[in-house]
Amino acid sequence: MSERVAESLKRAFVAESRTYQRYSYLAAKLEEQASLAPTEEIVEILREAALRLRDTASEETRHAQMWLSTLETMTDPLQELQASRESEEADVEEYQQAARSAREEGKDPQAALFEMVALAEKRHAMMFASLSERLQRAWLAARLG
Ligand SMILES: [Fe+2]
Ligand SMILES: [Fe+2]
Repeated sequence: MSERVAESLKRAFVAESRTYQRYSYLAAKLEEQASLAPTEEIVEILREAALRLRDTASEETRHAQMWLSTLETMTDPLQELQASRESEEADVEEYQQAARSAREEGKDPQAALFEMVALAEKRHAMMFASLSERLQRAWLAARLG
């Protein structure tokens, strides 16, 4: 696959994933607003919009998965687990940095959120590290046995 095509696939994957999240969030918001709407007609339109957003969101997910599987070159589970661990570790760094910047600006509630998610990402990284180690050991044992 050429570099350019791979770049297009990566961009498409990120864009579809983002759209899925945006539509899902918007659908939930519209459902909330529908329950407070002043007329039946508005309730109906908001509910229909929410439904359409959810349908469209799941289509965007299918697109995202299709781009990812077209792009996928790694099929080694150990490599996948290690790459996932590295990606989680990178997220930890980014969230910690975001938390420091937010604290510097006196935005404590946002800093606390960044710190909380950094901890979750750290847990994800540790889980992937442990799975990688177990898989590596089990493969070694299978080869020796
Ligand atoms: Fe799409
Ligand atoms: Fe994560």
